[in-house]
Amino acid sequence: MRLGIISALSEEQQGLVEAMQSPYKLIHGQREYWVGQLWEIDAVCVLSRIGKVAAAMTATTLVEKFGVTHILFTGVAGAGEQTVQVGDIVVADSLVQHDMDASPLFPRFEVPLTGLTHFTADHRLNARVLNAAYAFLDEDFMEAIDDGEKAVFRLTQPRIHRGLIASGDQFIKDSAHIAGLNAALPGLVAVEMEGAAVAQVCYELDVPCAVIRTISDNANENAATDFMRFVKSVAARYALYIVRRFCLQ
Ligand code: ADE
Repeated sequence: MRLGIISALSEEQQGLVEAMQSPYKLIHGQREYWVGQLWEIDAVCVLSRIGKVAAAMTATTLVEKFGVTHILFTGVAGAGEQTVQVGDIVVADSLVQHDMDASPLFPRFEVPLTGLTHFTADHRLNARVLNAAYAFLDEDFMEAIDDGEKAVFRLTQPRIHRGLIASGDQFIKDSAHIAGLNAALPGLVAVEMEGAAVAQVCYELDVPCAVIRTISDNANENAATDFMRFVKSVAARYALYIVRRFCLQ
């Protein structure tokens, strides 16, 4: 396995490059690719920046130029339904581009000429990601997140959800908007801005991928404030511990 790890922002991936053994940096397409080992696994870490095009470009480069065999996307997301709360972890079973709409030529959400609305995450990779997420919550969470942070974000007993992640080139910050997406997309658990683009690239290049996200906000009118606070403090620690558990399996 040669694992590509993508996050959109540096706040979501802090500490990962520092955890690499013998890392070196290659710059391509205005991005820094860090190549090395993470807990004995060959890995390439990169920041995609925000949005579907940025993510697609990064995923393609990881496969075509860096030869990764698997891709893992880690970062934060807005909650896609009521029972999903800030601090919870979501693992995508499948992903959809919620802003794709070429109707009436093609059904809403279908990526034209693929015949697909949903792109699935890899089952085996997902099993490993889920194990890592459970190990993080069961064994690392108490020490990884300090009591002050637990109080600020009301992180009492974070849960893990599996389901549909919807991606689009929009930061969702409106209760009516997220309610509409939830109604249109059965099984929705989270919204973000990159995962489904990576999933489409991985589908087309036949590379297994998984997307794991920590919920930073409720995609409502408080989303921007909640998001900023969450990414500034705890987001990277979730990702770092989960990736560590993933690699050590
Ligand atoms: N990532 C984190 N929160 C988000 C939101 N509310 N909308 C889109 N992407 C997000």
